[in-house]
Parts: sequence; C-alpha cells; structure tokens
Amino acid sequence: MADIRQKQQVIETSEAQIAVHWREEEYYYPSSKFIGQANLTDPDILNRFSENKYWHTTLDTSDPPFWKWFVGGKLNASYNCVDRHLAKYKNKAALIFVPEPESETPISLTYRELYVRVNEFAALLRDFCGLKAGDRVTIHMPMVPELPITMLACARLGVIHSVVFGGFSGEACGMRAADSQSNVLITMDGYYRNGKLLDHKAAADIALEVSAKEGHKLEKVLVWRRHAGQNASASPFVKGRDHWIDEVLPNYAGEIVAPIPMDAEAPLFLMYTSGSTGKPKGCQHRTGGYLAYVTGTSKYIQDIHPEDVYWCMADIGWITGHSYIVYGPLALAATSVIYEGVPTFPDAGRVWRIAERLDVNIFHTSPTAIRMLRKAGLDEPAKYNYHFKHMTTVGEPIEPEVWRWYYETVGKREAVIVDTWWQTENGGFLCSTKPAIDPMKPGSAGPGMPGIFPEIRDEMGQVVPAGSGKAGNICIRNPWPGIMQTIWGDRDRFVTQYYRKYCKDPNSKKWQDWPYFAADGAVLAVDGYFRILGRVDDVINVAGHRLGTKEIESACLTVPEVAEAAVVPVVDEIKGRVPEVYVALTPGTQPSQEIVDNVNKAIETIIGKIARPKHIHIVPDMPKTRSGKLMRRILAAISNRGATGDITTLANPDVVEKVREMVQGKEPVAVGEVAEDIKQFGKEE
Ligand code: WTA
Repeated sequence: MADIRQKQQVIETSEAQIAVHWREEEYYYPSSKFIGQANLTDPDILNRFSENKYWHTTLDTSDPPFWKWFVGGKLNASYNCVDRHLAKYKNKAALIFVPEPESETPISLTYRELYVRVNEFAALLRDFCGLKAGDRVTIHMPMVPELPITMLACARLGVIHSVVFGGFSGEACGMRAADSQSNVLITMDGYYRNGKLLDHKAAADIALEVSAKEGHKLEKVLVWRRHAGQNASASPFVKGRDHWIDEVLPNYAGEIVAPIPMDAEAPLFLMYTSGSTGKPKGCQHRTGGYLAYVTGTSKYIQDIHPEDVYWCMADIGWITGHSYIVYGPLALAATSVIYEGVPTFPDAGRVWRIAERLDVNIFHTSPTAIRMLRKAGLDEPAKYNYHFKHMTTVGEPIEPEVWRWYYETVGKREAVIVDTWWQTENGGFLCSTKPAIDPMKPGSAGPGMPGIFPEIRDEMGQVVPAGSGKAGNICIRNPWPGIMQTIWGDRDRFVTQYYRKYCKDPNSKKWQDWPYFAADGAVLAVDGYFRILGRVDDVINVAGHRLGTKEIESACLTVPEVAEAAVVPVVDEIKGRVPEVYVALTPGTQPSQEIVDNVNKAIETIIGKIARPKHIHIVPDMPKTRSGKLMRRILAAISNRGATGDITTLANPDVVEKVREMVQGKEPVAVGEVAEDIKQFGKEE
C-alpha cells in the first residue's frame, strides 16, 4: 500500500510540475454530445489496426467438428512471412530460384526484394483487378518465384488463393476455378520441363471456357512472363481479358500496401484434393491456426534456422509446397530453394549439383523422387560435395531399402531423416520422429507429433492396441491448429468424410466424441511408432500425387463408346502406385486401339498427364454383385496378381476368369502377397 501511495505521489508531482511549466499541454476533451454521435468511439482501435493481435480463446470447440483456433486474434500471413524479417534479414535470400536450363544462373531474392515485389503485385491486384479480402483467385503456375510472390500478395490483401498444380490440365483448373468462384486466373506463358519450353498459357484459355460452361465467368487472366521480351505461348490474348503482368506492373512501382489484419479464422487459401467422389474438394485452410502449425513444425521437425539453406523439391501446387516451401520456411526467415524442373534433367547428378552449388543443408522430397534418383544414379551423390544435416520424406510409404539408400548414400550417414505422415486436409505433419530426440526406423513415420494423439481403430470403432500387429484406420483423437476449417461450400461433406465414421453421437458437443478419420490404413508398433500402409478409400497415390479413381472414371465415361469404367491402383516400381483402367463398351461396339487412345486422351485432357494409366483394358463385362455393384476390389486383385477371394456371390463370376486371362495371360500365374492398401481398395464403397 505504502508503495503505491508513494508512486501516486511521484506521478502527481511530476504532472503538476508539467502543468506549471507547459500549460499548453493541457487536455481538452470532446463534448459528450459529440462522443454520443461519433463513428469511432472504441479506444482499442489502435490494437485492431496493428498487424498482429493476440487471441482471447485458443480453441473453441463449441460447434464440433468445426473447431475455431486463436479466436479474436488478428494477423496477416504476408506480414509474418515477409515484413517481420526486414529488421534482421532484409539482405538475406528468402528464395533462390533454380531454372531448369543449367545455362540460366540461379537467382536469389532477398527478403527486402521479396517485400518490394509482393507489395507491388498486391497493389496491382487491388487497384487493377479490384480484389479485396475474401475474394478468390485461382493460380495455375509452374515452379517460379512469381508463384510465392503471387500467393503472398493475395494473403496481404486477405484474398483467398487457390493454387492448382501446374501439371493439371486447363479443364481441371477451370473446374476448380468455377467451384471457388474465382474472379481472376493467374498463370504464366510457359516454363521448362525436361529441356522443353512448354506452352502453359494455352491451359488458361481452356480453363476459362470450362469455367464458363460451369456457369462461372472469370473476369481477368494475368500472365507472368518466363523470359523478358519473349512469349512462350502461341495462345492469342483476348483483349480486355488477358494481361501481361510485366506491362501493368510498372504502374505500381514502389507502391507499399498495408497488410490487412485478418481474423485468425479467416480463410487463407483453398487447396483442392481428390476424395471418394468424382468432384475434388476445396480444403479450406484458416490463417492463424495454419500459419502457427506450419511454422512450428518447420522449426521443430524440419529444424529450420534462418541461416540454413532449405530445399523442398515438392511442387508448390500441392500442400507440401504451400506448407513447407512457402509459409512455414518463410515464417521462419529461412532461405527456401525453388527448382523449376525435372530432378533428373539433364542427368542423374542434377539434384546433387544444385545441392553442392547452393550449399543446401536441409533436403525434403518424396519416396518417388528418391526411387527415381536411385535408379538413375546409384552412386551419383558421392560425386558431389554437399552435406545435408537433415532430410525429409513425405507423401507415400517408403520401402526400407529405399530409406537406407537415402540415409547412406544421399545423406552420407550424416543427415537425420524424418518420415512425415500427413494430408492436404491436415495443414502440416501429424506423425514424425522429433529429429534430435527420437531414433529413426526405416519405413515408419514415427509417433504422433507433440500435441497430436493418433490411434488405430477397427471397423467397429474399437481402438487397436499398440503392438497387436493388427492394421486398422488411423484417426486423430484431438483437434489441432493445422486442420482444415471445412470443405469450401460443403459443410456436410466435411462432416461425412472425416468425422461421421467414428462419431457415435452426432449431437455431441464434446470434442472427445469427434475423432478425425484419415482414410489411411496403419499399424501401431509397441514402441509407439506408426507405419502407414496407404489409403483405404478410392484415392490412388501416384508418385506422391493424390488422384481420385472416381475422377479418372468420369473422364473415361466422356468417351462415347465407353459404357462403364473402373480404375484401380497397380504397384509401380518407381511411382509407388499408378492407375490401371478397365472399360466395358456400349452394346455392339467392337474394341479398338482408337478407343484406347481416346480414353487416354480424355484422361489427359480432363485431369492431366499425371493421371495417365499404366494400361487400359477393354473387358467384355465388369465383375458385379447381384445388386449391380461394380467390384473394383476384384479388378485390383487381378491387376496386382493377388487372390480374388470368394467370387461365388457375384452375378457374373465367369467374367472374373475372362478378365484375368486378358490381363495376366492364358496360363494361371502364381498368386502373390499384395500390399495392404490394394487389399483395402474399394472397401469404403
Ligand atoms: C500418403 C501429402 C506414408 C497417405 C502430404 C495420405 C504417406 C496421403 C506419408 C495424403 C508418409 C503422406 N508415409 N504415406 N510419410 N505422407 N502419405 O493429401 O496415404 O497429397 O493419406 O498430402 O499421402 O496425400 P496428400
């Protein structure tokens, strides 16, 4: 008490003294009449206009399973990934772009330069396109620095970006643009892939046509240019609609756009991914929870420090690139490498040459890339003087012998490896070893991340104990900040897809009653490490890219002669899994190579080259149950030389042998053990 009184006295004295000496400093207050009618009366206004504001509720679970994270908080993702670093790191490389042609020198972009470019492009988006917070923009771009610049410029304005993988077709891009009701499409004239300069802008024309057919008209197409003064695309510009960015951008030179403080719960981006139906779903990610989750996992699991040179070889068009090339690393002031092209171009040493030249010390890639590089050059890494401290594998299960090559030859036994399991829906890693704490176990993703509580459940919903050796469905018991908010425009599908299976009481308000169903099979070892076996639904993981069999089937059905189509996964030495297509023709149609070619073309046009099937089999009929259900599981067994199981309950059991002969040949082949995901394929139907 005495202390407080003393302090008050001090304050009073000093104010009194000031009053004597500086009379002009007296305060004059507005009249209560004015205050009563004024627009601005909240003294907290300054707080609300700072870029970041602390939240009042960390997790609000009142409306399961729509969790809210960091409620009341305000932030801007672009500010946190760019502006925040200027004080300390303005001259440090934020991004290093490695063009595919080796004749083009890598280009470093400092944080200061990134700041300038993000601001100028944000000004263009705001003033030239009229974009504002909450609007959507579809981005269909290759791996160039203009892609993160575009994303961060959107984030600066609160505009929701929807990046569509550059390898998807124009049609796939158009469908996604229509679903998200984007106003603007941002693309590039062309890019290098395998030594060729591809025409990419042509896809935008198709995208706009397809979107219009879906009832949604995009207003503008903005086109980045790959080479100054050149045009890599033969596609004509539509006047008033298409604009070269480098012709408009000079009008915004030097402009600074204040980052808009966004609600922690405001959507940051959409990322479309494949599910069990023919229609991709727009995973809607929130600003605060997502950014916190990817930053934390980048720091503690990727072990990124600002002085590291970090290279994630994924494509920014997939979730891995969003979380672990752009948002996570940049939030940590890392130097993030962007490589334009194919890992084996022009030869098997390219990746290791880049690592040596840039002195990369954290390397992040997929099992498919590792298998590819191993096949192309078993001893190649030893020829280059690079040293990784840390390596990641993500996206598919990795075979222990491939893991060992990664560890011994690529990592030179110096690098720690994390095998990170997660999904587009999850924002960031769910299972992984903690690199400095947990030992590595080839083929295992490791334990749940700190704060993530995974468990294995059987079909009845019972939890399968660790060490039982029994496979089941991996679920996450608790909400976490990186989980998506919902499926864009489809709350019901969100609940059905991820929570219905194991929620016993749909009216429950307790988060404990809402485990997240991941649609992956897994086994939990006694040491608490999870081994992921792969999808249990109709999704095929092709070279680490997620494709829906139903989407491919819909594409096949656009060929007029095709009456029925079934797509199944088949094991591939390099890509892990690839789709194999079965089609039955309309009555009276003769099978022909032309039909096969047309099915192939339809898949490429509607989805993209990544979905190209290994084989297309024209079969006389599909195996079906008596109620007419197509048994994809039997076709998957045939494609993978596994046991077809009991077929006596089928309506047409004899067709199974006919199809088997077409695929495997007349002579019966030995039935082998097939992978768990292939056994499980189609089970969820
Ligand atoms: C698979 C990619 C085994 C899994 C980040 C999942 C994995 C799907 C691993 C999600 C891993 C991802 N080990 N399988 N470490 N990581 N998967 O949405 O089947 O493109 O459901 O996200 O990839 O693929 P998505």
